[in-house]
Order: sequence, then structure tokens, then C-alpha cells
Amino acid sequence: MERTYIMVKPDGVQRGLVGEIVKRFEQKGFKLAALRLMTPTEEHLKQHYKDLAEKPFFPGLIKYMTSGPVVGMVWVGKGAVTTGRKMLGATNPADSAPGTIRGDFCIEVGMNICHGSDTVENAEAEIALWFPEGVATYEKSEDAWLYEKRN
Ligand code: GTP
Ligand code: MG
Repeated sequence: MERTYIMVKPDGVQRGLVGEIVKRFEQKGFKLAALRLMTPTEEHLKQHYKDLAEKPFFPGLIKYMTSGPVVGMVWVGKGAVTTGRKMLGATNPADSAPGTIRGDFCIEVGMNICHGSDTVENAEAEIALWFPEGVATYEKSEDAWLYEKRN
């Protein structure tokens, strides 16, 4: 089953939005496989955002992301990566639709409260980076009421 890495950024933690973001993914039907609060090092963040290293906003992004604790999570489910991105909303909250997390709770692109993996491949790399010890696998009875039987 598909997995995605979702992270509440320092502003999301400071603004008390961890529960709200967890709630939305839980209520959607995705399965929580890992969750941890940590203050990432600059080195760790530079690895996470390595594709953006040449962007003019990169130094500010690293400063923002190391300014306090973040909450990293792994959510599992059919289409978790694409649907997870839709639930977060467009990168710039000015363009995020109401009803999305960014559309409902923030204003500026440099403080957009959450991260979500953009491809399945990047999701797997991010999960390995943030949860090197591995994540949980377990059965959830709710799945019988979420997924059509494949037989
Ligand atoms: P993430 O889920 O955080 O990876 O966002 P994204 O995939 O929607 O966007 P992208 O990976 O391109 O950018 C990563 C993060 O950098 C964004 O979420 C923003 O916090 C920040 N960012 C992107 N573009 C800008 C920009 O033009 N200005 C500023 N200040 N920050 C930006
Ligand atoms: Mg991104």
C-alpha cells in the first residue's frame, strides 16, 4: 500500500495545528504508521530539501524549518501521496482552495504549516530519512469499511 511523509512545520506546531492535521488524515481513512516530534538539524533539512538548494528562498526555508520542533508522520493508504497533496492544498496559501489545510489555516508561502511528499519515490526516500528505524505495519479493521473487496 502507498505511503506518504507528512510533516507539520514549526509554525504549524507553534499554532497548535498538529491535532487538526492528524485529524484530517485520520478521518480520511489513511492509516498512521509513524509519528514523531523533533527539532531537525540544518544538515537533515538540507537533505530533505536538496532539490531546492539552488532556489533563492532556500536559506530562508532552512532557517524557518529549523526554528522549532516539527511533527513528522507516515500515512498509508490508496493514493496517499496524491490525495495527501490535495488535502494540504497548493504550495502558496494564496492559491490554496478553502477546505484544504493550507487554504484554511495560513497566509504566506514561507509559512505554509505543512509538508507532503510529491511522488511515491520521494515519499519512500523521505520516510527513510525521517524514520530510519522503520515504521509500523498493522491491520486496521476499519479498512474493511474503506476499501472495496478485490475478489
Ligand atoms: P512541501 O510540501 O513543503 O515540499 O511544499 P511543496 O512541495 O508544495 O513546494 P516545494 O517543494 O516546491 O517547496 C518547499 C517549500 O519551500 C514550500 O512548502 C514553501 O514553504 C517553501 N517555498 C516554496 N516556494 C517558495 C517561495 O517562492 N518563497 C518562499 N519564501 N518559500 C517558498
Ligand atoms: Mg515539495
